[in-house]
Amino acid sequence: MKIVLMQTLNKKQLNAAARMLSDSLPNGWPTLKDALDEINQLLKSENNYMIAAINKDIVLSWAGILEPIYNGNVVELHPLVVKSDFRGQGIGKALVLNLENEARNRGCLTIYLGSDDESALGETSLANADLYDDLPTHIKNFKPGTHPSGFYLNMGYKIIGVMPDANGIGKPDIIFGKRLK
Ligand SMILES: CC(C)(COP(=O)(O)OP(=O)(O)OC[C@H]1O[C@@H](n2cnc3c(N)ncnc32)[C@H](O)[C@@H]1OP(=O)(O)O)[C@@H](O)C(=O)NCCC(=O)NCCS
Repeated sequence: MKIVLMQTLNKKQLNAAARMLSDSLPNGWPTLKDALDEINQLLKSENNYMIAAINKDIVLSWAGILEPIYNGNVVELHPLVVKSDFRGQGIGKALVLNLENEARNRGCLTIYLGSDDESALGETSLANADLYDDLPTHIKNFKPGTHPSGFYLNMGYKIIGVMPDANGIGKPDIIFGKRLK
């Protein structure tokens, strides 16, 4: 497996990357066209850093960081997706470590991301909870369940905020952050 800049992918590989995004996160990108539009948008800004993991020309995963904000101190990780049959093999971790290195090299202090808990029943302990009532305790007792939150906790990220009802009542966006220095 090697990690390459997404700008080097051909049209077929970009299509595969888009299909992966739409298949994995259909709430965010319901159609292939939505996912392709997202990729084209992300690749437009040369200040975004977009990478893909490929093996024998097959795209296994892709991810990126956006142009830094807060005077260059903070950077958003967006998005991250691993092809379903290649999960659990350390590919997501390899891409996130690569992105963190790049962010560090750019002088960023904080990397963050939003991870929506938006499935019908909710996956984490923050779903369907009253997040206006004692939020610190909700965060302290956080349980990721089946949600990708478990991956970010494993990678050393901490919950640094929540956006209640971001995806409808009881469906928050969970904000994770990590110190880079
Ligand atoms: C979340 C995702 C990117 C993880 O990628 P992955 O390649 O499967 O993860 P890795 O194999 O690199 O896992 C790295 C570590 O995290 C752990 N981990 C992975 N997913 C986890 C989860 N859901 N809960 C808890 N731990 C998890 C692994 O066990 C591994 O632990 P180790 O290093 O101690 O052995 C992948 O499952 C995915 O693409 N999901 C669908 C899209 C998505 O949810 N993207 C994130 C949106 S915010």
